[in-house]
Amino acid sequence: MQTSERQISTSVLVIGTGGSGLRAAIELAEAGVDVLALGKRPKSDAHTSLAAGGINAALATMDAEDSWQQHAADTLKESYLLADPHTVETVTKHAARGIDDLERYGMPFAREADGRISQRFFGAHTYRRTAFAGDYTGLEIQRTLINRAAQLDIPVLDTVYVTRILVNNDGAVFGAYGFDLETGTRYLIHADAVILAAGGHNRIWRRTSSRRDENTGDSFRLAVEAGGRIRDPELVQFHPSGILEPESAAGTLVSEAARGEGGILRNGLGERFMPKYDPERAELSTRDRVALACYTEIAEGRGTPNGGVWLDVSHLPRETIMTRLPRVYQTMLELQMLDITKEPIEIAPTAHYSMGGVWVRSEDHSTDVPGLYAIGEAASGLHGANRLGGNSLIELLVYGRLVGQAAAAYSAGLPAQSRSAEAVATAREEIAALLAADGPENVRALQRAIRDTMTEHAGVVRSEAGLRAGLAELDAIEARIAQVGVHPDIAGFQDLAHAFDLKSAALAARATLEAALERRETRGCHNRSDYPELDPALQVNLVWSPSTGVVRESIPEIPAEIAELMGGEISLAGKLVE
Ligand code: FUM
Repeated sequence: MQTSERQISTSVLVIGTGGSGLRAAIELAEAGVDVLALGKRPKSDAHTSLAAGGINAALATMDAEDSWQQHAADTLKESYLLADPHTVETVTKHAARGIDDLERYGMPFAREADGRISQRFFGAHTYRRTAFAGDYTGLEIQRTLINRAAQLDIPVLDTVYVTRILVNNDGAVFGAYGFDLETGTRYLIHADAVILAAGGHNRIWRRTSSRRDENTGDSFRLAVEAGGRIRDPELVQFHPSGILEPESAAGTLVSEAARGEGGILRNGLGERFMPKYDPERAELSTRDRVALACYTEIAEGRGTPNGGVWLDVSHLPRETIMTRLPRVYQTMLELQMLDITKEPIEIAPTAHYSMGGVWVRSEDHSTDVPGLYAIGEAASGLHGANRLGGNSLIELLVYGRLVGQAAAAYSAGLPAQSRSAEAVATAREEIAALLAADGPENVRALQRAIRDTMTEHAGVVRSEAGLRAGLAELDAIEARIAQVGVHPDIAGFQDLAHAFDLKSAALAARATLEAALERRETRGCHNRSDYPELDPALQVNLVWSPSTGVVRESIPEIPAEIAELMGGEISLAGKLVE
C-alpha cells in the first residue's frame, strides 16, 4: 500500500481533543503560541462529550456556606488520603475561574429562576456544588470549547493516531509520530513541548462506560515509552450504574445525577439496600461504597435475573426526569425501549475512570520527561482512591489553563529544539513492522482476551490469587501479541490503530495488575478480599514503570486549614468486602 509522510512543525503539540486538550490549546492560542491538536476520533465525539452529571466548583450559589476549602477537604477525605493535597488545592481554589472561563466561552449552564448557576448534590459532597447542563454537561462543555477553539483558528487534525512521542538523545521531547486513520499518511510532527491528553485505561475491562477504541491506555504507553512513569494504575473507579443490555453497549453510564435527583437502588428482592451500607447518605454515599454495595448484593445472590440491581427514578415527577435527566431518558429508550418514568433500570458496576495515570508534578503537570506534560484522565494526583463525581470536568478546566501556560513558558525558554534522527527512524520502523505483520493472531480477539482477564481478576473485588492468575494470563496474551496479523484495508487503517491500542492495553493491564498486587489493603475503589482493612503503611502512591516495577512514593501533608474541615477518621464503614 502506497503511503506518504507529512512533516509539520509547531511550538506545542496537544495529543487528544477532549476537554483537557482543547482547554490547553485555547490557553496557548489566546497567548499567541503556535499550537496543533491531534485526535483519534472526531472532536465533537471526544470522550468528554459523554460526561453527564456535572462539574464542581464551590460557587455557593445554592449553599452559601460552601468554600473552596470545604471542596478540598471533601476531595481529600474521599480520596482516602491518596490525593496530592497541592493538586487538590490547585483545582478547588481555581475551580470558580474554570467556570468563569466556560461562561465567557458561552457555556449554557442550568440556572435558577433569578439567573444564578444552579448546583446539584453529587455523592459525598458536603454541599450542592455540581453545576450542570441537564445530564449533558460534558457534551455542552465540549461544544463550548470547540466553538472557542474555532474562534481562535486552532488547527485540529482529528483523524491522526499518535504512535510515539519523539524524544532526543538528552531525553527531552521534540514531537510525535503517527498516521492518518483514513489514508495511512504518516505524520512527523516537530514540537518544543507535547501535552498528553489522551485519556485513561478503563476500556480494558469488559463492562465499561467508555466506547470502543477510547480509553485504551494510549497515554500510559506513550508516556512510558518516552521515559515517563505511571502513578496508581490500580485505582480505577467503578461507577455503580452501568447498563447491562444490549451486550454491545454494556457498561454505558446511567448518570449519578439519577441518584442525585432522588433515584433509589433496590435489589432483585425489591429491597432498598443502600441504608444498610450507609445509613446516613444511602444512595448519595461515595461511589466506591455504592459500587461495592451493588456488587455485594449481586454476588450474594440478591441480584436481578440478569445479574444486576434496580435503579428506580419512576417515582420522580416526569418534569424532573425530562429536564434534569434527559440523556438517561433518551439512552434507555434508544438502547432498551425502556421508559424510565415508568420502570426501573437494571444496572451493575462499570469501569468508569482511571484515577491514577501518568506521573506528573502538581505545580504544572510536567512529567519525568522534559517538555512532556499530561492532563485530564491521562494524569494523576487529584482523585486518590475515590473520585468525587464532577471533579474530573473541573480538573480539565483548571489544569488545561495551567498546563497551557507551563508548556508555553517551556517552549519560549528552549534555546533550540534538539532532535534525534534515530528516534524518528524507530517510529517509522515500528509502523512498517506492524504493517508487515502477517501472523495468525487476531488483534480484536486479543483485546477481548485482555478485557476478560481484567474483568475476571481485577474488578471491584480483588485478591492475591486472582491478581497472580491475571498476570499469568497476561504473560500468555503478550506472547500471542507477538504473533498478530495486521490488515488495513480499503476502508482505512483502523486495524493498525487497533494493534497499537492492543499494545497500550497490555501495558496498562500489566501496570494495573502489578500495582493492585502490591496494594495489600482495602482502600476506596480497591477492595482486597484477602486484605479487608486499610493499612496505614500503604497511605502512599504506587509508581510503576517497566524497569522499576512498583515503587512507593510518599504523599505531602494536608494543610491544617483543610485537615480540620475533613471531619473525622477515614473509615471503611459501609464497606462489606466479602
Ligand atoms: O454519573 C455521572 O454523571 C458521572 C460523573 C462523573 O464521573 O464525574
